[in-house]
Parts: sequence; structure tokens; C-alpha cells
Amino acid sequence: MKLTGKWVLITGASSGFGAAAAAAFAREGAHVIIGARRMDKLNETATAARNQGAASVAAHPLDVASTPSVEAFVQWIRQLTPRIDILINNAGGALGLDPVVSGKDADWEGMVQSNFLGLLRMSRAVIPLLPHHDGAWILNVGSVAGHGVYEGGAAYCGVKAGERSVTQALRLELNGTGIRVGSLDPGLAETEFSLTRFAGDTARAAKVYAGVQALQAADIADAMVWMATRPAHVCIDEIVIKPTDQAAFHKVHRRPSN
Ligand SMILES: NC(=O)c1ccc[n+]([C@@H]2O[C@H](COP(=O)([O-])OP(=O)(O)OC[C@H]3O[C@@H](n4cnc5c(N)ncnc54)[C@H](OP(=O)(O)O)[C@@H]3O)[C@@H](O)[C@H]2O)c1
Repeated sequence: MKLTGKWVLITGASSGFGAAAAAAFAREGAHVIIGARRMDKLNETATAARNQGAASVAAHPLDVASTPSVEAFVQWIRQLTPRIDILINNAGGALGLDPVVSGKDADWEGMVQSNFLGLLRMSRAVIPLLPHHDGAWILNVGSVAGHGVYEGGAAYCGVKAGERSVTQALRLELNGTGIRVGSLDPGLAETEFSLTRFAGDTARAAKVYAGVQALQAADIADAMVWMATRPAHVCIDEIVIKPTDQAAFHKVHRRPSN
């Protein structure tokens, strides 16, 4: 399926996968609509996407943790276009790495709001804009954390397991409409993810990627475009992408630093 002239909506596009996806779909000639909370960074993404040759680019503040924000965002979209062809539910991330015994309410609530309820809110608001039988697609960004658990990851792994459940339920609910639904579940990827997880502690975030050839945001964006461009009758339900260096959570090959 060609993406030229298709309307692509990407949440969490102010950095990482979302920003890279905006550039990648722009290169395909799509109309790119992006949302996130940090408008300064979102505007940088918009400029980069325009430079990549998008049919059009529009950016607007979005907090997926807030129903009024999601509703205002979709009202704004309706003034731009009556249809969205592709919804990429990417906004989210991890907050903290505490074991349950010392976990913080704010971190747990933040993760549930953005990764899980945000996904439900955005899907509910945008499904009415998705055309039937024309290759429309909902892509949810999950994680390898949704396929297993690690110490300190109870809440994050829980919400990413929840993402898989939402994806599978949507797939059932939308069967017969021609709308495709899938999950893209990355492993270790070098974005602002760890900086956010560790509340801006750059040294701790850097350690996560030390000596490892981690995935880059562009690797994930590349996969998104591949998934989106399959023929309309082909739905990639779920895809897991990890760095070659990461065989499992606890099995990451690290090169000694020199
Ligand atoms: N990097 C990894 O290793 C990895 C692996 C597997 C899955 N993931 C998942 O991939 C997705 C993207 O993460 P990333 O790695 O690209 O990290 P990132 O660089 O930190 O990007 C996260 C994006 O989500 C946005 N966001 C967070 N909460 C939001 C909210 N309430 N409303 C709107 N936007 C929100 C952020 O924008 P604002 O702060 O400006 O709102 C930012 O644009 C996340 O769902 C994450 O869980 C990441």
C-alpha cells in the first residue's frame, strides 16, 4: 500500500520513535499529524518532517493522560481532515525502576495513564475517523516488557502486557471493518526513554546503553513504514524487534569500553 497522501497521526512525536516515525512517514509523502506535551520539541519534529517532503505537517499539544486533552486534539484534527488512515499510539514510557515494595504512586499512575489509558482514549476518539475497507491501521507501540518481566518493572511490564490485550481486543472488535490493528514491540532502544525513566539522571541513563549496540529510533520507524505499506489485506498482528546484542532482558552482550 502506498502512503502518498495518507493521513498519519502519531502520538508522542516530540522525541524518540514518534519523532523518527514522523520523518519516515513524511518521506513517504504522507500527511503527518503529531501530538505530545512538549510543544518546543514537537515543533522541531514538525520542521524536520516538512523538510522530508510530507504532504503536510500539523502539530498540536496532546496529553494522552487526559480525556479533555485527547478530545480537544481530535476536535482540532476534524478541522484538518475528516479521515485518519493510520493511528500510531506511541506515547508512553517508563517511570522509575523501583521494586514494588518501594514503588511510588505517581510513577505507577503516570505509567497507567499514558501507556494504557492513553491508548484506550486515543483509540476511542480516532476509530470513528478511520475509513473502512481502505487499508486503515492502528499501530500500538508495545514492548518486550509486555512479553516478560524483570525486577523493578512490575508496573511498566504490566501496562505493556495490557497494551497487548488492548491490541488483541481491538483486533477482534474491528474484524470485518477492514481496519488493521497491530503491535510493534521493541527491545532496548536508545531514545529519551531511560532519561525519562530515571528522572533526568543522564549518567544512569547512559549506563543502560553502555557497550551495547542498541536499536535506534530510525530502526523502529523503518519497521513501522514496512508494516504500514503491506497490502490492505495483510495485517501484521505483532512484531518483536530487539538489538542483536539483546537475547533477553538479562542477556545483553556488552563490549568493554576502552
Ligand atoms: N526506548 C525503548 O527502549 C523502548 C522499548 C520498548 C518500547 N518503548 C515504548 O516506545 C514508546 C516511545 O518511547 P521512546 O523510546 O521513543 O521514548 P521517548 O524518546 O522518551 O519518547 C516518548 C514520547 O512519548 C511522549 N509522551 C509521554 N507521555 C505522554 C503523554 N501523557 N501524552 C502525550 N505524549 C506523551 C513524549 O512526549 P512529551 O513528553 O513531550 O509529552 C515523547 O514524545 C513508548 O510507549 C515506550 O514505552 C520504548
